[in-house]
Amino acid sequence: METTRHSITVHPCSRISGVLKVPGDKSISHRIAMLGALAAGTTTVHGFLKSEDCLAILSVLARLGARYEFVGDALRLTGVGGRFIAPQGVLDMGNSGTGIRLLAGLLAGHSFTSEMTGDESLRSRPMRRIAEPLTRMGTKVELTGPAGCAPIRITGGTLRGIDYTSPVASAQVKSCVLFAGLFAEGTTRVTEISPTRDHTERLLQAMGISLEVKGLTVSLQGFGSRGPALPARSWNVPGDISSAAFWITAAACRPGSLLELPAVGWNPRRNALVSVLRRMGASVEFIENQDSSACECMGTIRVTGQVLQGTEVGGDEIPDLIDELPLVAVAGAMAEGRTVIRNAAELRVKESDRIRSVVGNLARLGVKVEERADGMVIEGPARIKGGVALDSYGDHRLPMAMSMLALSADAPVRMDDIDCVNKSYPLFWEDLKKVGGYAE
Ligand code: S3P
Repeated sequence: METTRHSITVHPCSRISGVLKVPGDKSISHRIAMLGALAAGTTTVHGFLKSEDCLAILSVLARLGARYEFVGDALRLTGVGGRFIAPQGVLDMGNSGTGIRLLAGLLAGHSFTSEMTGDESLRSRPMRRIAEPLTRMGTKVELTGPAGCAPIRITGGTLRGIDYTSPVASAQVKSCVLFAGLFAEGTTRVTEISPTRDHTERLLQAMGISLEVKGLTVSLQGFGSRGPALPARSWNVPGDISSAAFWITAAACRPGSLLELPAVGWNPRRNALVSVLRRMGASVEFIENQDSSACECMGTIRVTGQVLQGTEVGGDEIPDLIDELPLVAVAGAMAEGRTVIRNAAELRVKESDRIRSVVGNLARLGVKVEERADGMVIEGPARIKGGVALDSYGDHRLPMAMSMLALSADAPVRMDDIDCVNKSYPLFWEDLKKVGGYAE
């Protein structure tokens, strides 16, 4: 069946200004949904991200026995009280990498067989990275797609705790192993090669699970096949800094802009984009003024536009801005001088090959850019060419990031195949209008 692909045209705009409340954090919403679905009783979540990925995980959790409804803006999720029920049929995770990899960890603790699949993009993403540790813990994991990809069939059972050093810096892998570790006999230890986002650790601790974090190693004591007794509670999800990042970048590189983003999460493992922009000369302030109840810091981000200078990004900084690297490229195109992104080969296995897709779109906008195996080099400041059409490559972050550059084009720019934006930020185009932009 032919599906209609939607386009939108972004018009030039010299300033990004106003006050904007961004939607809830995608990573935290996923984790709260999964842990709440396993808990006993009804969890209430304020600020849960109502996007395609997060709604996909909720409907999968419902097939595993949880029940949910939205009451006004609040999600009310009633958990199974310890163990999921065996699902009928294949579980469709849509486009959600976080959904499939983290849920695999919880399903590993259950003795039934379950199968998860997803859309074409998800079925092309690497799953051996979770299959390997889960197999070592005693799970039967079959990757029935080509080259170690989903569909993924899991038969869990009695797990044993392992000492695992992940070869990739991935919070999804770390969280998957920790989730499985909850159902293991003995201690599970995960060591990372670089620190990654720690929402799983914070949420588990907030739910009374004790964890030990020593340098790059996180350990937890398993509860065996009965699993953990998680309590239901109420949560307030902070605004997603990865969604705020579009507006922060757009305002930061446009003198005359003045933007305020209230109630945004400020996890130290998520805010490296702000450090990079500051290094480029940006004026970005953070004012902590709210408690998210998810053991996360949150507050208001205030941005004043400046002329930026090019910079170099690499090493341990990469996992802390992995989802924001397309925006480093955007800022680089607006900045004076050269911007280099290195050590970012992980970008090639995101929703698209994000090195190729970002380079392709920048080149179409007239930016001088060179593709490298693990990143790219951008020469700024570029004269942004309008009157062109950009491809989303089916990757939500692409049209949103490229629109931030299109605002500076000499004519309107068409964004094609934009439905993917619904994965993380369904109200993105409305929000663009709220900060002074225009798209139709
Ligand atoms: C996420 C971790 C990151 C990130 C993704 C969300 C998470 O992926 O890119 O958007 O919620 O744990 P990796 O862990 O694969 O780097």
